[in-house]
Amino acid sequence: MKDDFLKYQAQTSPHPLFMEVSHAKGSYIYDVDGKAHLDFVAGVSACTLGHCHPKVMNAIKEQTEKYMHVMVYGEFAQSPAVEFSKLIAKQLPESLNCTYLVNSGTEAVEGSLKLVKRITGRTQLIAANNAYHGNTQGSMSVMGNENRKQAFRPLLPDIDFIEFNNEDDLLKITEKTAGVLLETIQGSAGFVPPQNDYLKKVKQRCEEVGALLILDEIQPGFGRTGTLFGFQQFNVVPDILAIGKGMGGGMPVGAFIASYEHMQKLTNAPKLGHITTFGGHPVIAAASLATLKEVLESNLMAEALRKEALFRELLQHPLIESVRGKGLMLAIMVKNADVANHVILKCFNKGLILFWLMFEPKAVRITPPLTISDEEIKEGCNYILEALNSFN
Ligand SMILES: Cc1ncc(COP(=O)(O)O)c(C=O)c1O
Repeated sequence: MKDDFLKYQAQTSPHPLFMEVSHAKGSYIYDVDGKAHLDFVAGVSACTLGHCHPKVMNAIKEQTEKYMHVMVYGEFAQSPAVEFSKLIAKQLPESLNCTYLVNSGTEAVEGSLKLVKRITGRTQLIAANNAYHGNTQGSMSVMGNENRKQAFRPLLPDIDFIEFNNEDDLLKITEKTAGVLLETIQGSAGFVPPQNDYLKKVKQRCEEVGALLILDEIQPGFGRTGTLFGFQQFNVVPDILAIGKGMGGGMPVGAFIASYEHMQKLTNAPKLGHITTFGGHPVIAAASLATLKEVLESNLMAEALRKEALFRELLQHPLIESVRGKGLMLAIMVKNADVANHVILKCFNKGLILFWLMFEPKAVRITPPLTISDEEIKEGCNYILEALNSFN
């Protein structure tokens, strides 16, 4: 299949990791030669409950037997989407009570950006250096990396950038600003958490000038950092929450959540202010609902913190400078990009899946399924230490 994959399927990376996948279960992906690959990446933070979790599979099967796509978003009441939106509202502060379901993280960001413009009547958007919010043109406009977006200009006008965690930069948020979009924990930048009540201070500045705060929780969301969403640990409530990835238990999904009053802006003047054919798809929403219920009803969130401690205890080596991140959103920071490349490729050959972070070449991503066992963590960390030992 490799030749056909390279020839017929559009490629994004000049060096794809490449595996011919046969099937996947729990923390393992099996290739067509029968080799088991322990998954420390979880489809880039998407497979919260591991591969093919029975509760997610059952929800999908049950829903496909009832109905699949029946109508564009927002016209018919479909119970998986309604139930999901109701259950997630119960987990969130009162002001985040209305959910718009879309098909991906970047669409959640696009919807959020449109919404802040409609609510404030302003146009300026502020994002952070090294931020990643997706690859459509609006999300790319707020990407904090000029190299990656230069070739696609012109993008959205009226965008300014601030340095994450730099309080002096908050004065760039003014009466002209419609919205400030930040990742709660910067992902592609190298799993950088907010410090010194930074997010609270951003929100305060937004309130002073009448701007809105959007938090992108597409990576830390769904229990990965020990709470359902990362912001719940940082003394702040965003005006809009953008979510995706791990919410679907392996299915493609995203959503943005705001107050009912704010969301009304997409209903009128103009009507149909944000529309989508497949957003709220019943099968995807059923998988999301099953995933959310399992995260809430199990002890996976608390366990994510205990498993983080195990990773930190095991990942000690002279070539490891630090382990960044929270819960099961971790990045091993090594001496240089060569070490990171060596570890990722060596471990891949051994049967452990690791991955890069987009804007931080010294980082090795560890975002396993929340369901990963202690034995699997130990097995994977041994591979990592062996790979580090073999670096010269
Ligand atoms: C923080 C963040 N925002 C947005 C996105 C875009 O999500 P998607 O790839 O589902 O469009 C990603 C994807 O990696 C992400 O990490």
